[in-house]
Amino acid sequence: MCGIVGYVGAKQAQSVVVEGLRRLEYRGYDSAGVALAHEGAVAWDKRAGKLANLEAALAESGLPESCTGIGHTRWATHGAPNDANAHPHLGEHRRLAVVHNGIIENFAQLRSELEDAGHVFLSETDTEIAAHLLELEVEAGHDLTVAMQNVCRRLEGAFTLVALDGQDPSRVVAARRNSPLVVGLGEGENFLGSDVAAFIEHTREALELGQDQVVTITAEGVEITGFDGTPAEGKQYHVDWDLTAAEKDGHDWFMRKEIFEQPRAVADSLLGRRDDAGLLKLDEMRLDDSELRDIDKIIIIAAGTSFYAGMVAKYAIEHWTRISVEVELASEFRYRDPILTHSTLVVAISQSGETADTLQAIRHARVQRSKVLAICNTNGSTIPRESDGVIYTHAGPEIGVASTKGYVTQLVAVYLLALYLAQVKGTLFGDEINTVMDQLDEMPEHIQTVLDQADQVYDFARSHVDTRSVLFLGRHAGYPVALEGALKLKELAYIHAEGFAAGELKHGPIALIDQGMPIFCIVPPRGRDQLHDKMLSGIQEVRARGAHTICLAEEDDETIAPYADALIRLPKVPVLLQPLVAVVPLQLFACELATAMGHDVDQPRNLAKSVTVE
Ligand code: M6R
Repeated sequence: MCGIVGYVGAKQAQSVVVEGLRRLEYRGYDSAGVALAHEGAVAWDKRAGKLANLEAALAESGLPESCTGIGHTRWATHGAPNDANAHPHLGEHRRLAVVHNGIIENFAQLRSELEDAGHVFLSETDTEIAAHLLELEVEAGHDLTVAMQNVCRRLEGAFTLVALDGQDPSRVVAARRNSPLVVGLGEGENFLGSDVAAFIEHTREALELGQDQVVTITAEGVEITGFDGTPAEGKQYHVDWDLTAAEKDGHDWFMRKEIFEQPRAVADSLLGRRDDAGLLKLDEMRLDDSELRDIDKIIIIAAGTSFYAGMVAKYAIEHWTRISVEVELASEFRYRDPILTHSTLVVAISQSGETADTLQAIRHARVQRSKVLAICNTNGSTIPRESDGVIYTHAGPEIGVASTKGYVTQLVAVYLLALYLAQVKGTLFGDEINTVMDQLDEMPEHIQTVLDQADQVYDFARSHVDTRSVLFLGRHAGYPVALEGALKLKELAYIHAEGFAAGELKHGPIALIDQGMPIFCIVPPRGRDQLHDKMLSGIQEVRARGAHTICLAEEDDETIAPYADALIRLPKVPVLLQPLVAVVPLQLFACELATAMGHDVDQPRNLAKSVTVE
């Protein structure tokens, strides 16, 4: 939620900041703004709407030259997405500008104290009080770093603040509590960003910040302290992707590019996971095998698409390890007083590593002395930093708001975790684990086979532009895929879409079906169990009631054809791994339908990529 950029160096800050905002726009796109330090004052512009509006305004009447700047792209919390509420916000005397991500929970009280002292506010935001308070501090003679420390001690809630003082262009000062912020280390220049995409064009060296820290960047260096002024150190790391990964590379949308990157992303996730003896290894995990052996319950916590990856994990972990698994929405977890012990392993799944609900849930689990393992795509983000161990998914940057390669690589990570636990606990033999690993190694090729049918899926999608409601049915590991297919369609096409466990349909939802309603049916592979045949009955039931069935079935499954109005062929894979291939046509369908409806696929309305407020 909200993208933040800060810069001090020798380049023109306006272009560095606006370019950074373009790369962070997926974090929020309700408004955008920029502020520069210029000749003892602040120069700024801010506009409601997408960054393009701000860019158009700047092209017409650019800001003066400056080498010190901050910028913001907003996902609105306090106040409507209009010009007045756009960031930056300025102090009473326009000496100081601030951008903010998060929610200052005690802003109402601070605002009324300031109003009693005669301050006038121009916006409905919680942010503006921070600008006024900081300005009071610098006017009292403190430098901006000390001012930030003093103000942060008075604030409650979650925030990243980035500020500049028009009278001190040598520095930009930022602070973070429960909200993302990283430093980019350049030569004769330094950067701040909500994530590394903000400055990837300029440097791949980054610095992780801890909780409750203030960071001051100048052209020459970086200084970190706690909110109390105690010196602190950041953790430096090298970003293992470059600018090309953050560009569309000829695709119309980042989402489409990311869908087509899935074979490579899955291969990268699997890379280096077996040692010379053929044993599975999870290097980053940091949890001892002895600790894992003691685990008697796993609780998976996540939100949105990551939650659906967690649902697939339950099937895999319980089947391969016989450890009981609960899957819980992060936003519900800590409010229901969950039963946690030292032998409970909490697994937090998060692409961004910054989702506030998930972060608060793992904090709760750790207070209860449970071990926490993160499955995450974003190096240096808060959730893996605050966990006991991590499995990184190595998908590369995911910029489309709708998660795609993030999801399939989360699936890979949960399979790896399940197999690793099976290895440690001895619930599978080594050759059984190797067989599944070999099947996983074939997955990039299988996903590519599905991608090769994209044109067929696009044709279906374009023929459904007038559709107002779509259902998705699955069983077993296909059920979470149905939920994921429905989520993709809701968030991109803004139409009613619901996923159901196929067996549950007749307990009520079947009443929704009327003539011609499209229903995606994810057909399990034929096997020893009855899943496939039960699904076939379900398809017949909905078709008998007029549904238009779009079936996803194994390539040589001839039993489905008579009941399928449209048939998408999936490679033959085991049922537990089928989500990796079955989700792909659903992603393609949602992407193409939203495109045909004229929607912005990468920036769907009301959404933001990482949800850093509860
Ligand atoms: O970064 P996270 O995986 O923690 O994000 C969780 C959800 O916010 C995210 O998956 C969201 O549902 C996506 N927009 C789905 O496409």
